[in-house]
Amino acid sequence: AVPGGLGPDHGYGPDIHHVLLSEQQIQDKITELAAQVARDYAGREVLLVGVLKGAVLFMSDFARALQLPTQMEFMAVSSYGSSTSSSGVVRILKDLDRDISDRHVLVLEDIIDSGLTLSWLLKNLGSRRPASLEVCALLRKPDAIKVEVPVRYVGFDIPNEFVVGYGLDYAERYRDLPYIGTLKPEVYSD
Ligand code: XMP
Ligand code: MG
Repeated sequence: AVPGGLGPDHGYGPDIHHVLLSEQQIQDKITELAAQVARDYAGREVLLVGVLKGAVLFMSDFARALQLPTQMEFMAVSSYGSSTSSSGVVRILKDLDRDISDRHVLVLEDIIDSGLTLSWLLKNLGSRRPASLEVCALLRKPDAIKVEVPVRYVGFDIPNEFVVGYGLDYAERYRDLPYIGTLKPEVYSD
């Protein structure tokens, strides 16, 4: 386990440099975001669109915390570029299963880094004529922003460093961590 009683770490503890956001901090923030969204969308049915795979844990906890009837859709996109940065050239790997026209769409994103992926996604979803389209991102790196994207709800602004856990991966690992942290440099070089 990670020192400081952070709970189960699935054996990843030795790879973690430091914990940025504990499981408790994340869950408290989700409760807060869900309360805000519930107020803003009162009386409406929300269609949550999760961006795979990073937003899966967020979607699961957020949907349970949100005291509104919601439906869930998922989209998978891949941005050309290296594994730790994006280029803004996006390809749809898995599209939504349903039409979103006239629906109140709330996109759930794990993290906004350059903003390029989200900017593309909002244009794409916006062209499908939803009744409304907003974004809820758990994390945002203000210092990495290359393109401004209108994000209505943000969990945490974090420093411009690569983070893993709570859905976020490095080479597909660490998504299952309940907290968010950084990796020791030697993990990248191994
Ligand atoms: P852009 O730059 O388009 O990137 O806003 C968004 C996508 O890039 C990935 N990303 C990360 N993944 N730790 C990760 O595990 C990070 O620190 C990180 N920063 C960006 C992520 O897939 C996100 O959706
Ligand atoms: Mg990734």
